[in-house]
Amino acid sequence: MVTVDQILTILKTVVDPELHKDIVSMGMIKDIAIHDGRVAFTLELTTPACPFNSDIEQDVRNAIANIGVKDLDLKITARVMEGRAVSMDELLPGVKNILAVASGKGGVGKTTVSVNLSLALARTGAKVGLLDADIYGPSVPLMLGLKKAPEVINNKIEPAFSEGVKCISMGFFYEQSQQAGIYRGPIVSGIVKQFLTDVNWGQLDYLIIDLPPGTGDAPLTLAQTIPVTGIIIVTTPQDVAMNVAVKAIGMFNKLNVPIVGVIENMSYMQCPHCHEQMHVFGKGGGQKVSEQFNIPFLGEIPLHAHIMEGSDFGKPVVISDPESMQAHTFSKVAKVIAGKVSIIAAEIRSQEGSETKGSDPDIKLDQKQTQSASHPG
Ligand SMILES: Nc1ncnc2c1ncn2[C@@H]1O[C@H](COP(=O)(O)OP(=O)(O)OP(=O)(O)O)[C@@H](O)[C@H]1O
Ligand SMILES: [Mg+2]
Repeated sequence: MVTVDQILTILKTVVDPELHKDIVSMGMIKDIAIHDGRVAFTLELTTPACPFNSDIEQDVRNAIANIGVKDLDLKITARVMEGRAVSMDELLPGVKNILAVASGKGGVGKTTVSVNLSLALARTGAKVGLLDADIYGPSVPLMLGLKKAPEVINNKIEPAFSEGVKCISMGFFYEQSQQAGIYRGPIVSGIVKQFLTDVNWGQLDYLIIDLPPGTGDAPLTLAQTIPVTGIIIVTTPQDVAMNVAVKAIGMFNKLNVPIVGVIENMSYMQCPHCHEQMHVFGKGGGQKVSEQFNIPFLGEIPLHAHIMEGSDFGKPVVISDPESMQAHTFSKVAKVIAGKVSIIAAEIRSQEGSETKGSDPDIKLDQKQTQSASHPG
């Protein structure tokens, strides 16, 4: 009969394609139980949005079949790893990862990307928050179709909630006061800090921060207030957008904030009939930025009327038409990002020496197996 050791040994041959580590050392195998030749265990992925989810599952099934087990009860769960030094940070202890979406130039689609990525991550089962750090021109409430101002309960602002995403924005408060946003730098910094500290975010796997364009007060405040997992740079294919994206990356590098990668928005239009891709704004701007700075290229988002309509009428395409090509593209990019975040988190864990290297996963044995485990073979 198969033993726990045999199971662990064979599972050690399964390597997470992105983290390049075996799944046993990563602590991804839990609760092994063996009963009458039936094997059960849990595979705990590093994110519900794992891009290699089904590959890892298949490798696990093949490995277990290779040691002669015919009856496998495999449970798959996910627990997102912390991709930032939370212990140093008293502000948001329940938030595992903070991802800020930035660009050099305005109007390249940061908010559209932030909103659709947040919704795509939430659809995988992750706990997601969205902080609109664009104090002068907040557009997140409009894009999410949210109107009701958040309430204050026990001195904490309760975030608004839409399709699984918790959300805060200055837009809610302008909506109430009918005022336009004309604020000086220190006030902008104060509001961004308040959105980080005075909002009841609770437990989140990912907090997405939609930054205003350029290199102004909001990104500086963010970088100086709280450890972030990394920055997602949005650019369009044109040289002019790309050149200013380069400036933004330079600023974050100086501030020592990691860059998760670059997304190219409005990359191409796809002919609805022949599916040919037309590169109306030129080609390869995002790739060039990625190569120049040696940062990951996270994907291309097409230019499409449904994306624009979804954003501008409060029904983002990921929700209004989840099976569309556009929604699938956002989901794919969200998974790539989740994978990169897992890599950053794994690096932090190994630097801290807290990796479960070689340590035993939780193993539950029934009576019979306890006996055979203590007398292997
Ligand atoms: N892929 C896309 N296809 C079609 N329209 C898009 C796409 N991405 C963004 N848009 C549209 O472009 C306009 C600008 O987008 P968005 O507001 O997201 O940009 P931004 O970078 O957040 O702007 P700002 O710098 O002002 O904050 C919006 O009308 C939006 O609907
Ligand atoms: Mg915006």
